[in-house]
Amino acid sequence: MKHFLKLLDCTTEEIYELLDLAATMKQYVKEGKEHHFLKGKTLGMIFEKSSTRTRISFETGMYQLGGHALFISARDSQIGRGEPTQDTARVMSRMLDGIMIRTFEQKEVEMLAEYGSIPIINGLTDLCHPCQVMADLLTIREHKGKLEGLTMCYIGDGNNMANSLIVGGLKTGMNVQIACPEGYRPDPMVMDFAAQYPDRFSITDAPMTAAKDADVVITDCWTSMGQEEEKKIREKAFAGYQVNKELMGVAKADAMVLHCLPAYREQEITTEVFEAHANEIFDEAENRLHAQKAVLVKLLG
Ligand code: CP
Ligand code: NVA
Repeated sequence: MKHFLKLLDCTTEEIYELLDLAATMKQYVKEGKEHHFLKGKTLGMIFEKSSTRTRISFETGMYQLGGHALFISARDSQIGRGEPTQDTARVMSRMLDGIMIRTFEQKEVEMLAEYGSIPIINGLTDLCHPCQVMADLLTIREHKGKLEGLTMCYIGDGNNMANSLIVGGLKTGMNVQIACPEGYRPDPMVMDFAAQYPDRFSITDAPMTAAKDADVVITDCWTSMGQEEEKKIREKAFAGYQVNKELMGVAKADAMVLHCLPAYREQEITTEVFEAHANEIFDEAENRLHAQKAVLVKLLG
């Protein structure tokens, strides 16, 4: 593994190896055991979109690993003034040990990897959110003891989260059931990948069908970063795609609920369901730290 750009690039073995490493990282934190595997290493964190969890977890993660992280916002760097990605990649490669980037187009992340000579980590693009899904898989495994054979259901927008959940779920042996409105389906590349698993993948526009017998119910916001102008149209399109008590009624009695956050109450999820599953959702948020440290150690260590 040289980069962490999207889960489509990872093998099942690599995903499981990262999950095991993440569990070890978590154990070190719980035991208060020093684990300076990245002593003297520096990570550049480029943000072209907002973030709470991703920034905090990468910055804290690098500190806990004995390294250092730099916050580089597009607005305050030359990136926002149009410096070519090819040049940013080559400059940063001369000074840093790795780059985490959160941006719009997946192409930009791939270009950094192509022109730079240090590991690149995708901290969210319009296409995917692989770091988040590593944390999600870790959380499911902690709560359920396994991944293989479990049924994951995703309700809502066929966005970056849906794309990564489909790939991560299928690669780790889960059944994946998706409900999206027409016109908001996952990326064609992801749909092609999922087509290899006709027995374990299904997609419908009926949320109740997708949630049936699910072990894990997952949703995300209806309007992602960069889509703010579509907010009104999207609220209409997703009106029937709420994770609520009625929907949870068709999932397994002990089903978990996950949400990558930020969560918009009474839109994609009711307050009632969110609070009933807050423990799982905030475990998921915490696991961003442990999962990302695994990626950092694997790539920069
Ligand atoms: N889930 C997630 O990526 O959160 P942030 O946008 O706050 O980083
Ligand atoms: N789909 C959301 C995820 C936020 C973490 C977005 O891209 O804004």
